[in-house]
Amino acid sequence: MEHQRKMPFPENFLWGSASAAYQIEGAWEADGKGPSVWDTFTKIEGTTFKGSNGDVAVDHYHRYKEDVRLMAEQGLKAYRFSIAWSRIYPNGNGAINEKGLQFYDALIDELIANSIEPVITLYHWDIPQALMDQYGGWESRQVIEDFDRYAVTLFERYGDRVKYWVSLNEQNYFVSYGYETALHPPGVRDRKRMYEVNHIANLANAKVIQSFRRVVPQGKIGPSFAYKPYYPVDSKPENILAFENSEDLNNYFWMDIYAWGRYPVTAWKYLEENDLVPTIQEGDFELLASAKPDFMGVNYYRTTTVEHNSLTNGIESGEKNTTGKKGSTKHSGVPGMFRTTDNPHVESTNWDWDIDPQGLRIALRRIATRYQLPVFITENGLGEFDKLEDGDQVNDGYRIDYLRDHIAAIQDAISDGVEVMGYCSWSFTDLLSWLNGYQKRYGFVYVDRDETNAKELRRIKKQSYYWYQQVIETNGENL
Ligand code: BG6
Repeated sequence: MEHQRKMPFPENFLWGSASAAYQIEGAWEADGKGPSVWDTFTKIEGTTFKGSNGDVAVDHYHRYKEDVRLMAEQGLKAYRFSIAWSRIYPNGNGAINEKGLQFYDALIDELIANSIEPVITLYHWDIPQALMDQYGGWESRQVIEDFDRYAVTLFERYGDRVKYWVSLNEQNYFVSYGYETALHPPGVRDRKRMYEVNHIANLANAKVIQSFRRVVPQGKIGPSFAYKPYYPVDSKPENILAFENSEDLNNYFWMDIYAWGRYPVTAWKYLEENDLVPTIQEGDFELLASAKPDFMGVNYYRTTTVEHNSLTNGIESGEKNTTGKKGSTKHSGVPGMFRTTDNPHVESTNWDWDIDPQGLRIALRRIATRYQLPVFITENGLGEFDKLEDGDQVNDGYRIDYLRDHIAAIQDAISDGVEVMGYCSWSFTDLLSWLNGYQKRYGFVYVDRDETNAKELRRIKKQSYYWYQQVIETNGENL
């Protein structure tokens, strides 16, 4: 749809930025924290780029005041961060670690004192290692109770000061990377187990939303879904069908559960035919349907283009580019459903992620139409090599272009009628990019460290820092 005039961003639009505990905090064993699965996984040889890990990360744990000062100076209205479960419950479900709670108390108070709205993510992939050891983590229904206890502890402690909450971050990625491609902990390759884990995670998500309604009735909560909208490669009917398959199996499979508590029909059929159906117990679907979120959180980075993939000799696992060597990604697929292919109409990053601002508008419209829920964009950003130049300059004009085009696409979506609550760029400071080390940078603030040498972790404002400052100042009028 083309508009004569674009709608302005709403008055109270949450201009923010985001992070996750393991990627920034460091202090991995400070003040009583227990290890998480990421503390263990990254120590296994060959799992991450150049063996990088979050032991020190960007030391936000000790430098949070400096980081918040930089946020305040930029004018951020919101800051999304995650809480490390194993700081609060070092053993996952035993005694509470008061010092862990105090760290987040201090961070939240610092944010509020600087007029920055805290947005808490309950879970950004770092389940306590102790729960893996006790019962296999997300593979046991015991985790539903333990995750709920942890969440209620946070709701009771911070619910008076924190209004916006994210339940699970990118469930679709932590289950598929953890149990299908084995790229994340616990490094399993077993799709049957993946769908079991996923169903349990759905139940845990629903359960904490129920608890939230009781403990923080005025607050707002939703999951953050990694929405990668699919495109068919062309209008050939078999490719259109492949596109429908990919949306059903890889996107609606999660979002339909969040919004309605049911799985899409054809995706479920696929699970049945392939003996992948998870164990369903009495009451599961009632619980799922009872926990409608207040918003759909969306982490948007890119679109993916698909085509037909035959059942008999179709491709399966691909290869992920974790080095920044452009073109090293290998296509993947689900035989009989779809396979990924190149999109000749868009550029891509050095990590082969298609750059597609229109895709964000499309994502927002699909969600608004299908679920009639407001959307909170909880992540969006560009991971690139940045260069620290003489005079402490980081000229990341390419990042400004990326963010500008995506924010413009959001405004288009708002003009199309979509309710968008806020926008968190990924990320505020540079951080550990899980499998890709520290060289894949996302921040407005450069952190001077590399994979093996934490150096002095100096913070340096990039060109994009100043650009976003004036975007916020003008409420998105001046992009
Ligand atoms: C999302 C995650 O998948 O995308 C973040 O929520 C992550 O934690 C971000 O860092 C970018 O992905 P990557 O793999 O480039 O770090």
